[in-house]
Amino acid sequence: MMEDQQNTNQQGHTSFLIFSASLRDNSINTRLAKLAAQVIGKNGGTVDFAIMSEFDCPSFNQDLEVDNYHPEGAQEFRNRILANDAFIIAAPEYNGSMPGILKNMIDWVSRFRPQPFHQHHALLMSASPSMAGGNRGLWSLRIPLEHLGTRVYPDMFSLATAHEAFDEDGGLKDKTLAKRFEDNLVGFMNLVEASKHYPCIKKAWVEFLGEKTDKETERVE
Ligand code: FNR
Repeated sequence: MMEDQQNTNQQGHTSFLIFSASLRDNSINTRLAKLAAQVIGKNGGTVDFAIMSEFDCPSFNQDLEVDNYHPEGAQEFRNRILANDAFIIAAPEYNGSMPGILKNMIDWVSRFRPQPFHQHHALLMSASPSMAGGNRGLWSLRIPLEHLGTRVYPDMFSLATAHEAFDEDGGLKDKTLAKRFEDNLVGFMNLVEASKHYPCIKKAWVEFLGEKTDKETERVE
């Protein structure tokens, strides 16, 4: 069964947009994103690796939204979300939150109709020299993504003391942590693969808080 699952992945049935939300040369988040790309490829996924400068947008201003205007960076991100089955962001933590450029880009992309985040899967990761690995910033990033209907994977990965965590080949020095990283990614890949190829029977559920069922509500149920 496990073998079948891996084979399905190896056939390239799921594709992942991966990028780091840092514009910095030598970014530790970009290093983590590259490692994620390597692990996804090793486990049979197709990788679409992007850099944040491709998605950079001017400061959001509703007055610019004339004649259905969307900045090029926002158009690019929308196209890449739609072209892949899921996306993975490695985001630095700035002052306990996500980078402003990332939130700004999300706000621009949220203005497309249909709204492209809806029902797309995402995995969040972070790297920081601190002991918490930038994890708090990921909780702030969950809020707009979940608000927009993204299926944000529950397990997030935050790399603490990241400035000294990588070996010369770009892998993680700590082998226990390297396995946790790979397990996190493979768990996400399996969910995306299952969601794409084996959708459950969908059932609309309507809840009438405090109401007794009557003919009308029974009919809806
Ligand atoms: C930081 N940094 C940081 N780190 C952290 O763990 N928690 C934080 O709240 C902050 N806040 C913060 C604010 C600002 C303005 C800067 C510039 C930096 C440090 C940050 O994690 C570190 O610079 C990383 O190396 C940034 O990620 P990249 O660019 O290396 O991917």
